[in-house]
Formats: sequence, C-alpha cells, structure tokens
Amino acid sequence: MSITQNLSISFSSSSSPFLAPSTFNSRSQVSLPVKSVSICKCVATPQEVDTAYKTKVSRNENMGKLQAGYLFPEIARRRSAHLLKYPDAKIISLGIGDTTEPIPEVITSALAKKSHALSTIEGYSGYGAEQGEKPLRSALASTFYADLGIEDDDIFVSDGAKCDISRLQIVFGSNVKMAVQDPSYPAYVDSSVIMGQTGLYQKDVQKFANIEYMRCNPENGFFPDLSSISRPDIIFFCSPNNPTGAAATREQLIQLVQFAKDNGSIIVYDSAYAMYISGDNPRSIYEIPGAKEVAIETSSFSKYAGFTGVRLGWTVVPKQLLFSDGFPVAKDFNRIVCTCFNGASNISQAGGLACLSPEGLKAMQEVIGFYKENTSIIVETFDSLGFKVYGGKCAPYVWVHFPGQNSWDVFSEILEKTHVVTTPGSGFGPGGEGFVRVSAFGHRENILEACRRFKQLYK
Ligand SMILES: Cc1ncc(COP(=O)(O)O)c(C=O)c1O
Repeated sequence: MSITQNLSISFSSSSSPFLAPSTFNSRSQVSLPVKSVSICKCVATPQEVDTAYKTKVSRNENMGKLQAGYLFPEIARRRSAHLLKYPDAKIISLGIGDTTEPIPEVITSALAKKSHALSTIEGYSGYGAEQGEKPLRSALASTFYADLGIEDDDIFVSDGAKCDISRLQIVFGSNVKMAVQDPSYPAYVDSSVIMGQTGLYQKDVQKFANIEYMRCNPENGFFPDLSSISRPDIIFFCSPNNPTGAAATREQLIQLVQFAKDNGSIIVYDSAYAMYISGDNPRSIYEIPGAKEVAIETSSFSKYAGFTGVRLGWTVVPKQLLFSDGFPVAKDFNRIVCTCFNGASNISQAGGLACLSPEGLKAMQEVIGFYKENTSIIVETFDSLGFKVYGGKCAPYVWVHFPGQNSWDVFSEILEKTHVVTTPGSGFGPGGEGFVRVSAFGHRENILEACRRFKQLYK
C-alpha cells in the first residue's frame, strides 16, 4: 500500500469536523477544529521601546543594509499575528524546518550519563579543547571521511553549522566577493552583509550588490551555469540544498571544484543534509579529487539526530587549503575558534560520540527514514494535485512550483486558508520566487493533516 493510500484511509477514518465535505471550496476559508493537539509555540515580537534618549554610538551600517528580519523570525512573526487573528486555529508548522521527533534513547542516555558525571569529582570537566574532544574528532573523521584523506585534526567540532558559517566569515573578512546558490539558506547572504562584503540591497533585482547569485532552477537541474559567473573569492554551496532539496551529482561537483581551482576560489560546502542522500550522489565534497585544496566543509548533527536544540556540528578545514600568501586557512580558523568560541558543550559532544556508535548511526538512520517518509507523503500530495514538485528525495524539503505567483502571496494564502505555515521561496533569494518550501519535519499526524488541508485547498 502506498503512503498516499494510507493517507486517504487516515483522512476518511477521521471524525474531524475539518472533513465536512459539503461546503468546502478551494478558495474559501477552511473551518478548523477548535481543540488542538499541537498548538504552535509563538515567538513574541519584541516591543518597541519608546524613549527619547539616544547613545552616541553610531549603528553598524552593515546591519542597516539587512532586509526586514532574518527570514525565519519573520515567518514566526507572521505566524504569531495569524494566531492573534485566529486564536483557536490549529496551526501546523511546516515552515522553519525544525526537527520534531524525539532524540533516540541511545543518544540521550549518553547525554544524561555525561551530565550526571559532571556531578562527580572524577567525571567533572570544565573548558575543553576549543577544537573539540579528540575521540569525537576521530569518530567524525572515520565515520564521514574514511579514505578521503581527512585527518582528525582537520576537523573542528562546533555548536552548529550556522555558527561556523559566521565564524568562517570572520576569517574571510570584509574584502572578499561571495557567490551563493540562488535560492539558498539565508545565513550565507546575511552573514556576508553583516561582515561588510556587500553593497546595498537593490530592490529592483532583490539582490545585494557585490554578491554573485548563482541561479539554480528546474531548467538547469538546480546546478548553476558556472560559465556565467564572474570570479568569486568564496563560493557557498549547499548539497543537498536547502531549500530546493537538490543533491549535486559527482559530475557537477567535479565541475564546481574545477571552477574553484580555475578561479583560485574557496568553496564552503554545506553538507548539513548529506545523510538524507539516497543513491550515489557524493555525501562529502572531499569525494572529489583535489577538493582538499579548495574546499571547507561544514556539517551538523541538527537534522540527523534532532540536535537543533542540543547544538553540535563540525567544520573540516584541510591543511592543504592555503590563502594566496601560502598561509593555511586552518590556522586562521583555529585562531578565530580560540578567540570567539570556547568549544562545544561537553554534554553535546558526549551525545555526538553516541550518535557515531553503531547503534547511534542506526538510530539516526531510522529518524531520517521517518522524515523521508513524510517527504514522500508531501511529494505525492502535491503531485496528485498537479503541481510541479522538486526535491524531497535526498532532503527533508519539498520545493513546490507556483508559476507566475508571488511566493509571499502563496505563503499567505496557504496560512490564511489552511493554517499551515510554509516558507516562501523568495525568502531564500530572488531565484526562489514562485516557489514555496514545505518542510517534512513534523509528527506524522500533522503531516497527514496538512496534506489533507492542501488537498482541500487545491482540489
Ligand atoms: C543548509 C543549512 N546549513 C546549516 C544549518 C544550521 O545548522 P545548525 O543547526 O547546525 O546551526 C541549517 C539549518 O536549517 C541549514 O539548513
């Protein structure tokens, strides 16, 4: 039985008032059950403080260049406003992309054990190595980079990939030109703006000056036409990509590494979703010969083990990667890590080590498998409604095409009529216009319910 068959059974066996078939019309307001099993948490919008007093400190002009809020707080703000308007709505959040399933016990028991050990003389530890504990660095090297020539000391353990993206930007400084996939995870562009690498936001094209936006769309198989890109210093490249879900092929990554070599650029390869890959797409950029001389890789336990709150990630900076004067990039990254960071939590690191045990790896695969089933449900739903749907096979995100429509309008319509939060594609760059990202992170009943609402809205 296919997942959608399951889905329709689950629809028809529900007694939810939402199912009332009689009056629903695809453009009308969906009536919602008042009782909720999963009311979303709302992030309070900070209140403006009304004061006449001003300091003499001028605002960092780069902060002033940023657009509105960071994408996800902006979505949370709109969701809060929606809940004020419809206090009884059962909102389902498939927007921000936060994990929902419990952390497997083989991992939490290691977290608990480490935490308890901190109450003992023998088990107590304070500051650790800024670069991470040796056994974890070694387990990361042997689990993810076996036979790829990455050594334990090339790996820097961190409190997450997003934090490392910003620390890398500090290493690069303000005098570099960045290239990003368009669309892409917004932290790359925003951290670039904050560092002063860009010019002003250009409203007409919805781009910051001095960033190369590498368009990735269905027409080019979500891989940019590198021949049209002018030389960047730093290339942020995420595969599988957030938001499109596209995983680059080996041939494409060979082209990317060659492009970086030809231009003397550095790739920052974000592999935060690599474990979602099925098939033989590379899981690490270091599978490509020569990549160690041109690429950094950053990754995370967030979407593998539900560590979005626990916080643990890592970044690989191979010794072979050198600046134009021959100075190793790893040495500067190490300097920044020692200055701006005091190492990942020792409790999180114990959890990370458990993740990489044979039982932990199996448990993570099961959680990932669960989210991938959610993805299939969402893909089948939009497919059956006649939409063009991308992603979903190697990533927990489904990228749905609404040709000719403004993606914030689609986001608003879906929220207004189904109380489901998605993410507007244009929030990831101008190349995301006309798309909406639907996240597969959710409890199964919420995914099924959201898909049922989508079916009612678009039937
Ligand atoms: C592509 C990508 N990189 C990095 C991150 C952040 O990961 P972390 O939780 O490790 O900071 C995310 C989170 O959504 C992501 O989508």
